[in-house]
Amino acid sequence: NKPKVWVSRPIFPDIVDRLRPHFEVRAESDEHAFTPADRAARLADADAAIVGLAERIDAQTIAAAPRLRFVANLGVGYNNLDLDALTAAGIGASNTPDVLTETVADYAWALLLAAARRVGEAERWLRQGHWQGFRFDGWLGADVHGKTLGILGMGRIGQAIARRAAGFRSRVIYHNRSRLEPGLELDCGATYVDKATLLAESDHLVLVLPFTPQTRHAIGAAELAAMKPTATLVNIARGGIVDDAALARALADGTIASAALDVFEGEPSVHPGLLHLENIVLSPHIASASRDTRRDMAALAVDNVLAAFGHGPHAGRPPSILNPGVLADASRPLIPN
Ligand code: GLV
Ligand code: GLV
Repeated sequence: NKPKVWVSRPIFPDIVDRLRPHFEVRAESDEHAFTPADRAARLADADAAIVGLAERIDAQTIAAAPRLRFVANLGVGYNNLDLDALTAAGIGASNTPDVLTETVADYAWALLLAAARRVGEAERWLRQGHWQGFRFDGWLGADVHGKTLGILGMGRIGQAIARRAAGFRSRVIYHNRSRLEPGLELDCGATYVDKATLLAESDHLVLVLPFTPQTRHAIGAAELAAMKPTATLVNIARGGIVDDAALARALADGTIASAALDVFEGEPSVHPGLLHLENIVLSPHIASASRDTRRDMAALAVDNVLAAFGHGPHAGRPPSILNPGVLADASRPLIPN
Protein backbone atom coordinates (compact mmCIF):
# COMPACT_ATOMS: atom_id res chain seq x y z
CA ASN A 1 0.00 0.00 0.00
CA LYS A 2 1.50 3.27 -1.13
CA PRO A 3 1.30 6.29 1.17
CA LYS A 4 -1.17 8.97 0.10
CA VAL A 5 -0.22 12.52 -0.82
CA TRP A 6 -2.70 15.35 -1.23
CA VAL A 7 -1.72 18.14 -3.66
CA SER A 8 -4.01 21.03 -2.76
CA ARG A 9 -3.85 22.96 -6.04
CA PRO A 10 -2.97 22.37 -9.67
CA ILE A 11 0.79 22.49 -10.07
CA PHE A 12 2.63 21.10 -13.09
CA PRO A 13 1.37 17.63 -14.08
CA ASP A 14 4.79 16.34 -15.17
CA ILE A 15 6.23 17.33 -11.80
CA VAL A 16 3.35 15.72 -9.89
CA ASP A 17 3.98 12.56 -11.93
CA ARG A 18 7.33 12.14 -10.13
CA LEU A 19 5.34 11.28 -7.00
CA ARG A 20 3.29 8.53 -8.63
CA PRO A 21 5.78 5.63 -8.45
CA HIS A 22 5.87 6.03 -4.65
CA PHE A 23 2.55 7.59 -3.67
CA GLU A 24 -1.12 7.40 -4.30
CA VAL A 25 -1.65 10.97 -5.49
CA ARG A 26 -4.77 13.02 -4.94
CA ALA A 27 -4.16 16.22 -6.92
CA GLU A 28 -6.78 18.95 -7.15
CA SER A 29 -7.52 19.89 -10.73
CA ASP A 30 -8.60 23.45 -10.04
CA GLU A 31 -8.05 26.22 -7.51
CA HIS A 32 -10.29 25.92 -4.45
CA ALA A 33 -10.78 28.02 -1.40
CA PHE A 34 -11.09 25.10 1.01
CA THR A 35 -13.31 25.38 4.02
CA PRO A 36 -11.70 23.90 7.14
CA ALA A 37 -14.08 20.93 6.76
CA ASP A 38 -13.09 20.33 3.10
CA ARG A 39 -9.45 20.48 4.04
CA ALA A 40 -9.93 18.11 6.96
CA ALA A 41 -11.71 15.62 4.70
CA ARG A 42 -8.81 15.63 2.24
CA LEU A 43 -6.19 15.30 4.97
CA ALA A 44 -8.06 12.62 6.92
CA ASP A 45 -6.11 9.75 5.34
CA ALA A 46 -3.16 11.67 3.83
CA ASP A 47 0.42 10.75 4.73
CA ALA A 48 1.81 13.86 3.06
CA ALA A 49 0.48 17.12 1.65
CA ILE A 50 1.70 19.77 -0.76
CA VAL A 51 -0.14 22.95 0.14
CA GLY A 52 -0.43 26.55 -0.99
CA LEU A 53 -0.20 29.68 1.12
CA ALA A 54 -3.97 29.82 1.54
CA GLU A 55 -4.02 26.46 3.34
CA ARG A 56 -3.84 27.03 7.06
CA ILE A 57 -2.29 24.00 8.75
CA ASP A 58 -2.85 24.53 12.46
CA ALA A 59 -3.18 22.35 15.54
CA GLN A 60 -6.84 21.64 14.79
CA THR A 61 -6.04 20.55 11.22
CA ILE A 62 -3.24 18.34 12.49
CA ALA A 63 -5.46 16.71 15.12
CA ALA A 64 -7.83 15.63 12.33
CA ALA A 65 -5.01 14.21 10.18
CA PRO A 66 -3.69 11.21 12.11
CA ARG A 67 -1.54 9.77 9.30
CA LEU A 68 0.10 13.05 8.26
CA ARG A 69 3.92 12.96 8.38
CA PHE A 70 5.05 15.72 6.03
CA VAL A 71 3.74 19.05 4.70
CA ALA A 72 5.48 20.79 1.81
CA ASN A 73 4.54 24.47 1.48
CA LEU A 74 4.48 26.03 -2.00
CA GLY A 75 6.14 29.28 -0.93
CA VAL A 76 9.07 30.59 1.03
CA GLY A 77 6.91 32.33 3.65
CA TYR A 78 5.20 29.79 5.87
CA ASN A 79 3.06 31.80 8.26
CA ASN A 80 0.16 29.59 7.09
CA LEU A 81 1.80 26.67 8.93
CA ASP A 82 1.82 26.30 12.71
CA LEU A 83 5.38 25.00 12.75
CA ASP A 84 5.41 24.40 16.52
CA ALA A 85 2.27 22.27 16.32
CA LEU A 86 3.65 20.33 13.33
CA THR A 87 6.95 19.70 15.13
CA ALA A 88 5.18 18.66 18.33
CA ALA A 89 3.24 16.11 16.27
CA GLY A 90 6.44 14.81 14.63
CA ILE A 91 5.34 16.10 11.23
CA GLY A 92 8.05 17.47 8.96
CA ALA A 93 7.50 20.70 7.03
CA SER A 94 9.32 22.38 4.17
CA ASN A 95 9.18 25.64 2.21
CA THR A 96 10.67 26.83 -1.11
CA PRO A 97 13.62 29.14 -0.35
CA ASP A 98 16.35 30.17 -2.81
CA VAL A 99 14.63 29.06 -6.03
CA LEU A 100 12.44 32.18 -6.01
CA THR A 101 14.88 34.76 -4.61
CA GLU A 102 15.97 36.42 -7.86
CA THR A 103 12.50 36.29 -9.45
CA VAL A 104 10.93 38.00 -6.44
CA ALA A 105 13.72 40.60 -6.40
CA ASP A 106 13.02 41.35 -10.09
CA TYR A 107 9.36 41.87 -9.24
CA ALA A 108 10.11 44.18 -6.31
CA TRP A 109 11.94 46.44 -8.77
CA ALA A 110 9.11 46.12 -11.29
CA LEU A 111 6.61 47.35 -8.69
CA LEU A 112 8.92 50.09 -7.42
CA LEU A 113 9.53 51.42 -10.92
CA ALA A 114 5.86 51.12 -11.86
CA ALA A 115 4.69 53.01 -8.78
CA ALA A 116 7.37 55.70 -8.81
CA ARG A 117 6.97 56.36 -12.56
CA ARG A 118 3.16 55.98 -12.53
CA VAL A 119 3.09 53.19 -15.13
CA GLY A 120 -0.25 51.65 -14.11
CA GLU A 121 -2.02 54.97 -13.75
CA ALA A 122 -0.76 56.22 -17.13
CA GLU A 123 -1.69 52.99 -18.84
CA ARG A 124 -5.24 53.06 -17.46
CA TRP A 125 -5.60 56.66 -18.66
CA LEU A 126 -4.36 55.81 -22.16
CA ARG A 127 -6.65 52.78 -22.46
CA GLN A 128 -9.57 54.96 -21.41
CA GLY A 129 -8.93 57.13 -24.49
CA HIS A 130 -7.80 60.30 -22.71
CA TRP A 131 -4.53 60.79 -24.61
CA GLN A 132 -4.69 63.93 -26.76
CA GLY A 133 -0.99 64.69 -27.19
CA PHE A 134 2.43 64.77 -25.52
CA ARG A 135 2.29 66.61 -22.21
CA PHE A 136 5.61 68.07 -21.21
CA ASP A 137 4.53 68.95 -17.69
CA GLY A 138 2.32 65.92 -17.10
CA TRP A 139 2.82 62.50 -15.62
CA LEU A 140 5.73 63.65 -13.49
CA GLY A 141 6.85 60.83 -11.25
CA ALA A 142 9.75 60.21 -8.91
CA ASP A 143 13.21 59.19 -10.06
CA VAL A 144 14.48 55.86 -8.84
CA HIS A 145 18.11 56.06 -9.97
CA GLY A 146 20.48 57.95 -7.74
CA LYS A 147 18.05 57.96 -4.81
CA THR A 148 18.10 56.25 -1.44
CA LEU A 149 16.51 52.81 -1.47
CA GLY A 150 15.42 51.49 1.91
CA ILE A 151 14.92 47.79 2.60
CA LEU A 152 13.10 46.60 5.71
CA GLY A 153 13.97 42.92 6.21
CA MET A 154 17.33 41.80 4.85
CA GLY A 155 17.19 38.08 4.16
CA ARG A 156 18.03 36.45 0.85
CA ILE A 157 15.39 38.39 -1.10
CA GLY A 158 16.27 41.74 0.49
CA GLN A 159 19.91 41.15 -0.43
CA ALA A 160 19.01 40.32 -4.04
CA ILE A 161 16.98 43.55 -4.25
CA ALA A 162 19.93 45.49 -2.84
CA ARG A 163 22.37 44.03 -5.38
CA ARG A 164 20.22 45.26 -8.24
CA ALA A 165 20.50 48.83 -6.92
CA ALA A 166 24.09 49.15 -8.15
CA GLY A 167 22.91 49.63 -11.73
CA PHE A 168 20.65 52.44 -10.57
CA ARG A 169 23.51 54.13 -8.69
CA SER A 170 21.26 54.11 -5.62
CA ARG A 171 22.34 54.40 -2.02
CA VAL A 172 20.96 51.39 -0.13
CA ILE A 173 20.09 51.47 3.57
CA TYR A 174 18.44 48.63 5.46
CA HIS A 175 17.05 47.63 8.79
CA ASN A 176 16.77 44.07 10.01
CA ARG A 177 16.46 42.21 13.31
CA SER A 178 20.11 41.25 12.97
CA ARG A 179 22.79 43.08 11.07
CA LEU A 180 24.44 41.37 8.09
CA GLU A 181 28.06 40.39 8.48
CA PRO A 182 30.39 43.05 7.04
CA GLY A 183 31.37 41.02 3.96
CA LEU A 184 27.72 40.59 3.01
CA GLU A 185 26.96 44.27 3.63
CA LEU A 186 29.80 45.17 1.29
CA ASP A 187 28.60 42.70 -1.32
CA CYS A 188 25.08 44.19 -1.19
CA GLY A 189 26.36 47.74 -0.98
CA ALA A 190 23.95 48.26 1.90
CA THR A 191 24.33 50.28 5.10
CA TYR A 192 22.60 49.26 8.34
CA VAL A 193 20.44 51.92 10.00
CA ASP A 194 17.82 51.93 12.77
CA LYS A 195 14.18 51.82 11.75
CA ALA A 196 13.59 55.54 12.40
CA THR A 197 16.47 56.47 10.09
CA LEU A 198 15.24 54.02 7.46
CA LEU A 199 11.79 55.64 7.45
CA ALA A 200 13.15 59.19 7.43
CA GLU A 201 15.84 58.78 4.76
CA SER A 202 14.37 56.32 2.25
CA ASP A 203 13.19 57.85 -1.02
CA HIS A 204 11.70 54.43 -1.75
CA LEU A 205 11.07 51.70 0.82
CA VAL A 206 10.65 47.99 0.08
CA LEU A 207 9.30 45.57 2.71
CA VAL A 208 10.69 42.04 2.73
CA LEU A 209 9.84 40.86 6.26
CA PRO A 210 8.32 37.52 7.21
CA PHE A 211 4.85 37.84 8.77
CA THR A 212 4.89 37.15 12.51
CA PRO A 213 2.92 38.61 15.43
CA GLN A 214 5.89 41.00 15.88
CA THR A 215 5.88 42.26 12.28
CA ARG A 216 2.12 42.77 12.05
CA HIS A 217 1.51 46.44 11.14
CA ALA A 218 5.25 47.15 11.13
CA ILE A 219 4.15 49.96 8.80
CA GLY A 220 1.13 51.80 10.22
CA ALA A 221 0.00 55.42 10.45
CA ALA A 222 2.95 56.54 12.59
CA GLU A 223 5.55 54.93 10.31
CA LEU A 224 3.90 56.35 7.17
CA ALA A 225 3.93 59.81 8.76
CA ALA A 226 7.66 59.42 9.39
CA MET A 227 8.36 58.81 5.67
CA LYS A 228 9.09 61.45 3.04
CA PRO A 229 5.99 62.88 1.31
CA THR A 230 7.67 62.02 -2.00
CA ALA A 231 8.31 58.39 -0.99
CA THR A 232 7.15 55.14 -2.57
CA LEU A 233 6.29 52.12 -0.40
CA VAL A 234 6.45 48.59 -1.83
CA ASN A 235 5.16 45.47 -0.04
CA ILE A 236 6.07 42.15 -1.66
CA ALA A 237 6.29 40.28 1.66
CA ARG A 238 3.00 39.50 3.36
CA GLY A 239 -0.32 41.17 3.85
CA GLY A 240 -0.69 42.48 7.38
CA ILE A 241 2.86 43.84 7.59
CA VAL A 242 1.28 47.09 6.36
CA ASP A 243 -1.86 48.47 7.96
CA ASP A 244 -3.74 48.73 4.66
CA ALA A 245 -6.40 51.10 6.05
CA ALA A 246 -3.68 53.48 7.25
CA LEU A 247 -1.93 53.20 3.87
CA ALA A 248 -5.14 54.10 2.03
CA ARG A 249 -5.45 57.25 4.15
CA ALA A 250 -1.76 58.13 3.69
CA LEU A 251 -2.01 57.83 -0.10
CA ALA A 252 -5.24 59.81 -0.23
CA ASP A 253 -3.97 62.71 1.88
CA GLY A 254 -0.43 62.88 0.45
CA THR A 255 1.44 61.61 3.50
CA ILE A 256 3.45 59.54 0.98
CA ALA A 257 3.40 59.82 -2.81
CA SER A 258 2.79 56.30 -4.02
CA ALA A 259 2.77 52.62 -3.19
CA ALA A 260 2.71 49.17 -4.73
CA LEU A 261 1.30 46.07 -3.06
CA ASP A 262 1.51 42.44 -4.16
CA VAL A 263 0.09 41.18 -0.84
CA PHE A 264 -2.87 42.31 1.24
CA GLU A 265 -4.37 41.99 4.69
CA GLY A 266 -7.08 39.34 4.32
CA GLU A 267 -6.28 38.63 0.65
CA PRO A 268 -7.84 37.86 -1.77
CA SER A 269 -9.98 40.72 -0.50
CA VAL A 270 -8.42 44.14 -0.94
CA HIS A 271 -9.16 47.06 1.36
CA PRO A 272 -11.81 49.09 -0.53
CA GLY A 273 -9.97 52.30 0.30
CA LEU A 274 -7.08 51.18 -1.91
CA LEU A 275 -9.08 50.18 -4.96
CA HIS A 276 -10.09 53.65 -6.16
CA LEU A 277 -6.73 55.33 -5.59
CA GLU A 278 -4.63 56.15 -8.67
CA ASN A 279 -1.29 56.39 -6.85
CA ILE A 280 -1.00 52.71 -6.03
CA VAL A 281 -0.08 49.65 -8.11
CA LEU A 282 -1.99 46.51 -7.04
CA SER A 283 -1.15 42.96 -8.08
CA PRO A 284 -2.58 39.60 -7.01
CA HIS A 285 0.36 38.02 -5.12
CA ILE A 286 2.44 37.19 -8.21
CA ALA A 287 6.00 38.13 -7.19
CA SER A 288 7.33 34.59 -7.68
CA ALA A 289 5.18 33.88 -10.74
CA SER A 290 7.66 33.38 -13.55
CA ARG A 291 7.36 30.29 -15.72
CA ASP A 292 10.75 28.98 -14.60
CA THR A 293 10.44 29.77 -10.92
CA ARG A 294 6.99 28.35 -10.34
CA ARG A 295 8.24 25.08 -11.85
CA ASP A 296 11.30 25.17 -9.62
CA MET A 297 9.11 25.77 -6.56
CA ALA A 298 6.82 22.86 -7.43
CA ALA A 299 9.82 20.61 -8.07
CA LEU A 300 11.38 21.56 -4.73
CA ALA A 301 8.13 20.79 -2.89
CA VAL A 302 7.96 17.39 -4.60
CA ASP A 303 11.65 16.72 -3.85
CA ASN A 304 11.01 17.42 -0.17
CA VAL A 305 8.10 14.97 -0.02
CA LEU A 306 10.02 12.28 -1.92
CA ALA A 307 13.06 12.71 0.34
CA ALA A 308 10.98 12.60 3.52
CA PHE A 309 9.71 9.19 2.49
CA GLY A 310 13.15 7.91 1.53
CA HIS A 311 13.07 8.41 -2.24
CA GLY A 312 15.03 10.37 -4.81
CA PRO A 313 18.47 11.95 -4.73
CA HIS A 314 17.93 13.53 -1.29
CA ALA A 315 16.47 10.37 0.30
CA GLY A 316 16.09 10.92 4.03
CA ARG A 317 17.27 14.55 3.81
CA PRO A 318 14.46 16.81 2.58
CA PRO A 319 16.44 19.71 1.06
CA SER A 320 14.49 22.56 2.65
CA ILE A 321 12.99 21.01 5.77
CA LEU A 322 12.07 23.66 8.36
CA ASN A 323 12.11 21.37 11.41
CA PRO A 324 14.95 18.89 10.83
CA GLY A 325 14.66 17.85 14.48
CA VAL A 326 11.71 15.62 13.55
CA LEU A 327 14.11 13.50 11.46
CA ALA A 328 16.26 12.85 14.49
CA ASP A 329 13.43 11.66 16.71
CA ALA A 330 14.07 7.92 16.61
CA SER A 331 10.95 7.17 18.68
CA ARG A 332 8.80 8.53 15.81
CA PRO A 333 10.72 7.93 12.59
CA LEU A 334 9.49 10.22 9.82
CA ILE A 335 10.22 7.75 7.07
CA PRO A 336 7.76 4.89 7.32
CA ASN A 337 9.30 1.45 6.93
C1 GLV B 1 5.06 33.77 -1.63
O1 GLV B 1 4.41 34.63 -1.09
C2 GLV B 1 6.02 32.98 -0.93
O2 GLV B 1 6.11 33.07 0.30
O3 GLV B 1 6.72 32.22 -1.60
C1 GLV C 1 10.10 62.64 -25.14
O1 GLV C 1 9.45 61.80 -25.75
C2 GLV C 1 11.28 63.29 -25.68
O2 GLV C 1 11.57 63.11 -26.89
O3 GLV C 1 11.96 63.96 -24.88
